[in-house]
Amino acid sequence: MIKTFLIAYYSHSGNTRTIADLIQNMTGGDLFEILPKQPYPENYNKCTEQAKREINSGYKPELQKSVPNIETYDIVFIGSPNWWGTIAPPVATFLSGCDLSGKIVIPFCTHGGGGQGRCFADVAKLTPKSNHREGVVISGNRVNSAQPELEKWLQNIKAINEI
Ligand SMILES: Cc1cc2nc3c(=O)[nH]c(=O)nc-3n(C[C@H](O)[C@H](O)[C@H](O)COP(=O)(O)O)c2cc1C
Repeated sequence: MIKTFLIAYYSHSGNTRTIADLIQNMTGGDLFEILPKQPYPENYNKCTEQAKREINSGYKPELQKSVPNIETYDIVFIGSPNWWGTIAPPVATFLSGCDLSGKIVIPFCTHGGGGQGRCFADVAKLTPKSNHREGVVISGNRVNSAQPELEKWLQNIKAINEI
């Protein structure tokens, strides 16, 4: 049976987008960029301060658009940068607003040295009725050489060549 893939991600400075593009390329899935209505400041310090406030208060920013026909996908990759040890608020909005029950959910994250933090645990918390597969964690400064690792990971979790 042919499975359909969606790769949904948020990226502030491009690292997570690079990984999303590579996964798209290897799976042939559809890409969806999660975009908040109000973009985050480009300035790093301003962005981290705003993000900290939002994460601490559980704020979920409004998004520009939702995925058309989410029900048609079997496997949904969810990508986020590690922001203060968790997923970026727009990703939390996205997961809270769409029904991924019964689907296979596979997280991925990029980081600046802190690894996955609570990113994958928080994706699982927001998708309690989904089936989860092991995620992949890529350091932000290694995204451009991540292809071999991603290929191995996708084969291990049987997301390519097998499902
Ligand atoms: C608001 C903010 C908070 C961050 N918090 C963390 C963190 O807690 N741990 C970490 O390892 N990296 C942290 N980073 C670094 C990003 O996770 C890293 O640069 C990531 O690859 C950025 O992905 P992007 O280019 O897709 O936005 C933070 C970056 C920003 C902008």
